[in-house]
Amino acid sequence: MSDGGKETIAILGGTGDLGTGLAIRWSKAGHRIIIGSRTLEKAQNAVAELAKISPDTPADAMENSDAAAAGDIVVLTVPAEHQISTLETVRGGLAGKILIDVTVPLVPPKVGTVQLPPEGSAGKRAQDFLGEDVMVVTAFQNIAAHLLQEDVEIECDVLVSGNKKAARDKVIELAEEAGMTGYHAGPIENSAAAEALTSILIQINRRHDISHSGIKIVGQADH
Ligand SMILES: NC(=O)c1ccc[n+]([C@@H]2O[C@H](COP(=O)([O-])OP(=O)(O)OC[C@H]3O[C@@H](n4cnc5c(N)ncnc54)[C@H](OP(=O)(O)O)[C@@H]3O)[C@@H](O)[C@H]2O)c1
Repeated sequence: MSDGGKETIAILGGTGDLGTGLAIRWSKAGHRIIIGSRTLEKAQNAVAELAKISPDTPADAMENSDAAAAGDIVVLTVPAEHQISTLETVRGGLAGKILIDVTVPLVPPKVGTVQLPPEGSAGKRAQDFLGEDVMVVTAFQNIAAHLLQEDVEIECDVLVSGNKKAARDKVIELAEEAGMTGYHAGPIENSAAAEALTSILIQINRRHDISHSGIKIVGQADH
């Protein structure tokens, strides 16, 4: 925990597009951020950039395995094809923690076609690989990295899947701190829907000339 009582968030692959966006938003919300990378130097460069945007919140640079061990909450933001190989290198540091997995299993060149892995989804694949000692929660699959990095309002909601309600509650709280509304989307199997939705949003962007289409949950509160 940081001095302000907020969790330290370690972002693995935090040098990339989505990791940078989440780091900016959570750093501005007062969380100590650890940028994880395969190389310390790359992480240090990313931390130097983050310090320019959010100078009042401390951030650290580490290799991914050290970052995973040091974070209260760990976020995985690497390309889908490197999801499991990255988890393999950091799993020792994840026991008992929430792992937020943003992986969308797009398979180029047909990124507008849903092509989920044999496990059913990338989220289920991560949970199966790590075992129940790690609380895998999937989220942010439908949010464009570009929007996270800019100081703009994000209209897209966040579907949050995972087997433990308390872990989903925490990620919904983190989504709110990052300026979005998160919704309970049920167990990790349901991550398939959010992951698949990204290909649909890509189709909508293309066919309707929209930048960053998103989803919004609607309904009336029950009294
Ligand atoms: N971009 C978006 O708008 C967006 C939106 C929703 C979800 N996502 C998901 O977020 C994840 C990250 O996307 P991104 O666009 O941020 O990706 P990215 O910028 O291409 O890559 C993120 C980081 O992954 C690490 N990486 C690259 N190759 C690797 C390898 N062979 N092994 C281990 N790590 C490797 C790199 O970090 P180091 O070189 O520092 O190790 C890189 O900076 C993906 O799963 C994607 O589906 C992306």
